[in-house]
Amino acid sequence: MEKSVKIALLGCGTVGGGVIIVLNENREDIAKKAGCAIEVKTVLVRDKKNLKPEIKKYNVGYTDNLDDILNDPEIEIVVELIGRVHPAKEYIEAAISHGKHVVTANKDVLADYGKSLFALAAEKKTDFQFEGAVGGGIPIIRPLRACLAANKISSIMGIINGTTNYMLTKMSQEGLSYAQALAEAQAKGYAESDPTADVEGIDAARKIAVLASLAFNTPLTLKDVHVEGIDNIDACDIEYARDLGYVVKLLGVAKNDPENGISANVYPVMLPKNHPLASVNDVYNAIYVNGDAVGDAMFLGRGAGRLPTASAVCGDIIDIVRNIRNHACGRIGGNLFEKKKMCPPDKEMAPCYFRLQVADRPGVLAAIASTFAAQQMSIASVIQKNVMDNGTAELVIITNKVSRLSLDLSLRTLQVLPVVNEVCSVMRVEDPALP
Ligand code: NDP
Ligand code: HSE
Repeated sequence: MEKSVKIALLGCGTVGGGVIIVLNENREDIAKKAGCAIEVKTVLVRDKKNLKPEIKKYNVGYTDNLDDILNDPEIEIVVELIGRVHPAKEYIEAAISHGKHVVTANKDVLADYGKSLFALAAEKKTDFQFEGAVGGGIPIIRPLRACLAANKISSIMGIINGTTNYMLTKMSQEGLSYAQALAEAQAKGYAESDPTADVEGIDAARKIAVLASLAFNTPLTLKDVHVEGIDNIDACDIEYARDLGYVVKLLGVAKNDPENGISANVYPVMLPKNHPLASVNDVYNAIYVNGDAVGDAMFLGRGAGRLPTASAVCGDIIDIVRNIRNHACGRIGGNLFEKKKMCPPDKEMAPCYFRLQVADRPGVLAAIASTFAAQQMSIASVIQKNVMDNGTAELVIITNKVSRLSLDLSLRTLQVLPVVNEVCSVMRVEDPALP
């Protein structure tokens, strides 16, 4: 067999540690598949004392100086797994500029700097791969860049954050509080180092920006995505959803409407219980793609976690080793060759659920109904729940389809309406029965 390909890891946390485990535990099969052994020569860490015991047993070198990696001519592939935008972006650029092939699982960097990194990799003729950045262990990036490349893709949507799906599942099936569910997701290694990115929908927004860019051949960044998280969703919303026959999921949804343009959204949605995404639970993610040739295709699997994400990262490493051995690096470049217009918010339509704390007195419903009417929003149903001792009541309202613009304007009015004490939560409702 040929001499080994040597790689370096930047970061040895949840995913970095997983990559060391998978490359070592499956070493022989991987070498046969790649055509040569793959050796982790150097790992960049901030402090060796932070290494987990299960990683220390593997024989790899450590450094706290990036230059040791950049200036080592034996290292051909650099795997960035430190997370966040800075200095990860600068480290990736430095690695590519030194002629290294790069693998990353960093959607934060990709969502903001994907276009310039693709260009740099093309200029330096290096491979730049990022299968782990969306959907954890689910193959979705390579399918979009290769297997589905012949399609005009009209929509890509699904559950693309493992932490929030785990939380919503635990809140709904085991009655865990929001805080308990988040703590469990963090302990399992699903959450970002700053979990507000997960619960506020930012992580999913970065992922839908990456997916939509590849699907629609146009550069989208985080700024192009309208984001609502689950941080305002309470256990009682999940209960109301259940009573109404729905399940709550945080979805990323991107559409390419030839007439109105591209829309990219992340928001919590009430899905009918029999919807295919309603039964995707725990850390699982599921992504639907619709292409003009393939029709509907669905990708399902573990969307976060050490070994599932390491599976995707190691797949990229093996692919690059094959390219190196066959002198075929840089085969699949960035495909962001078009600048497409974005869909205006008055053209994005969906039914909505509102939960409001209101004064429990006559005329309240009329005031709310006239706020909705001013935005041409029609009410499908109203349920009054839980009259409290302090003279307030909880109102649950479901509307027919409203535009995102009308929704935003009505919310602004409701928030200052004297009879409304609080707009507690708002969700889209996916229900073909609602006009
Ligand atoms: P962790 O926080 O577990 O690991 C990151 C590691 O990088 C930490 O050990 C940290 O060290 C180290 N690090 C941070 N900055 C530096 C630096 N400047 N120099 C050297 N080391 C540094 O994160 P994950 O492993 O969970 O995530 C890594 C990447 O993978 C992120 O981009 C994340 O979004 C992505 N990802 C994660 C998934 C998951 O399920 N966890 C799934 C898919 C993608 P220290 O311990 O000193 O802070
Ligand atoms: N924090 C992310 C999630 C990790 O929960 O989905 C996977 O990208």
